[in-house]
Amino acid sequence: MLSEKLLKPMEFIYHLVIALLGVLFACQCKAQSPGTSTSTAGSLDSLLQDYAYRAFVHPHTGVIYDGTVPSNLTGIKIAALRLKSGSLWKRGVESYKEFKIPEGIIVRPYVERLVLVYHNLGNWSSFYYPLPGYIYLSPVLGLLAYDAANLSATNLPELVVASESPISINFTNIIAVPSGAIARCVQFGLGGSPDFRDLVSSSICSTYGQGHFSVVVNSSEITPPPAPGVAPPPGPNHIGSKSDKSKVWKIVGGAVGGVVALLLLALLVCWMRQYKHYKKMAQMEQHADAGVSFHTARIGNTQVPVASAARTEPFLENELVA
Ligand SMILES: *[C@@H]1O[C@H](CO)[C@@H](O)[C@H](O)[C@H]1NC(C)=O
Ligand SMILES: *[C@@H]1O[C@H](CO)[C@@H](O)[C@H](O)[C@H]1NC(C)=O
Ligand SMILES: *[C@@H]1O[C@H](CO)[C@@H](O)[C@H](O)[C@H]1NC(C)=O
Ligand SMILES: *[C@@H]1O[C@H](CO)[C@@H](O)[C@H](O)[C@H]1NC(C)=O
Ligand SMILES: *[C@@H]1O[C@H](CO)[C@@H](O)[C@H](O)[C@H]1NC(C)=O
Repeated sequence: MLSEKLLKPMEFIYHLVIALLGVLFACQCKAQSPGTSTSTAGSLDSLLQDYAYRAFVHPHTGVIYDGTVPSNLTGIKIAALRLKSGSLWKRGVESYKEFKIPEGIIVRPYVERLVLVYHNLGNWSSFYYPLPGYIYLSPVLGLLAYDAANLSATNLPELVVASESPISINFTNIIAVPSGAIARCVQFGLGGSPDFRDLVSSSICSTYGQGHFSVVVNSSEITPPPAPGVAPPPGPNHIGSKSDKSKVWKIVGGAVGGVVALLLLALLVCWMRQYKHYKKMAQMEQHADAGVSFHTARIGNTQVPVASAARTEPFLENELVA
């Protein structure tokens, strides 16, 4: 029969639509994954702890060792510094990359020796710490503390650093603040949520604990974005590099294409249904002419009641409206 012939393509279209929806959904998930990067940033921390510890071969206390990151994270800089807790408390660290650590620092829980791991996330800053509505003027820098008891250990928990007087961060590669904008310090705590503060001076932020730090401006305060090429120049809405932008366009293009395809399919389905109606009506009219009475007509999978009393013009009108 006719409906049998039509069911096959309908089934096919149904599967196609499901597949399309699946693809769209997968795209959205992919697009969102870098955004929800609290756990991603957390796993980056533990990966960088591992690689920073590898810089210690015959480590001297109080010496800064630069580490190397795996090639899939090129652009990130790390360093490690091993200290006695007592010495950190008594003397602090005059200069550790951009950080200046005052005396009077304590770490919890107590460990005899600790390692201060330094991160400079470079062009990965807005990837691991996306901040919609803001533009980074400096790479995200990190300072984290771990127990130094076992230098081959991985997945170490972070120690909590507490300071009486502020640790200062002198951002050396800061992009000039665009005119009309006010630069602010941002700090990401262990939970990953941003905390905004004023700068101490033109390039200096302060903190009382461990975490990740940078300098940002509200992107709505500036008209032309800062010149690209310096440190991490993420565009508004944390769209970082050109490849990120093209990714976004691919996703948008995919979504639009998917919607258009769905519309076309819907049109096709409608058309097929109408075609069936007409075909059926033509048949029924034939039957009616032959004197056969119909109570229902099968259309697709549904039984459509058909007015059996009136078999001529009014019936045709009903069918066209439905
Ligand atoms: C990078 O490579 C390291 C080691 O090869 C691997 O453990 C890690 O999961 C990779 N990280 C990313 C973000 O791809
Ligand atoms: C950062 O730059 C390096 C090359 O310098 C590149 O391999 C890497 O993919 C870049 N990272 C991001 C997130 O664009
Ligand atoms: C940026 O500044 C505008 C105007 O002052 C404000 O409405 C907006 O909420 C700010 N954006 C963010 C992300 O703080
Ligand atoms: C240090 O950690 C490594 C890796 O977790 C482990 O295999 C080793 O036994 C540990 N060494 C000591 C002395 O605890
Ligand atoms: C911050 O760093 C810049 C450049 O390295 C330097 O000129 C400046 O004196 C530093 N500021 C402080 C307060 O250490």
